[in-house]
Amino acid sequence: MNKTPLALLLALAVVAPPLAAETQMSAPAPNGMTVPVGWQNWRLIAVSQRSDGDTLRGILGNTVAIDAARSGKTNPWPDGAILVKINWKQKVSETFPAATVPDHLIHVDFMQKDSQKFAATGGWGFARWLGLEQKVYDKGDVAQECLGCHGMVKNQDYVFTHPAPMP
Ligand code: HEC
Repeated sequence: MNKTPLALLLALAVVAPPLAAETQMSAPAPNGMTVPVGWQNWRLIAVSQRSDGDTLRGILGNTVAIDAARSGKTNPWPDGAILVKINWKQKVSETFPAATVPDHLIHVDFMQKDSQKFAATGGWGFARWLGLEQKVYDKGDVAQECLGCHGMVKNQDYVFTHPAPMP
């Protein structure tokens, strides 16, 4: 009696795709960008904290971006560079209250440099995916919303972040 359900379960486990494979398939952004594979393992460019929403941010880059950042060639950033900004809500550390540490993940923002493809938006493709499930942010005109703010630093190739000093 007990053998049938177990056999069925095992069969299903083999046939059904793992959940992780499903959650990685986020919908593309309105401009066609997809979540860059492996961004979680990119290297650090800088960090920031924002008092307007009490968030901590880590700014990372792909290899092209890191090479540019480390050699100071960031105005303009080279084609192929991708910058990612991870936004976490901040909280006081439970074990050491003087420390502020990441709470939940709010969203992950990307800027991909392609001066031809994204010529209409300053040479950058802008995209955002929300939460750990990486749900695409597609409300309204996303690129214009991003550019509305990033246009303030047009003279820095639309990028606010300066690579943090490193030896
Ligand atoms: C209200 C202003 C504002 C808007 C709107 C905005 N940003 Fe930003 N963004 C900033 C500021 C300020 C920084 C640098 C400080 C920080 O870490 O938040 C930044 C940093 C970034 C960075 C790291 C590179 C850099 O420029 O420093 C990325 C990537 C980014 N934003 C993507 C986006 C995307 C994608 C959108 C639209 C979905 C967006 N931003 C909308 C203000 C804005």
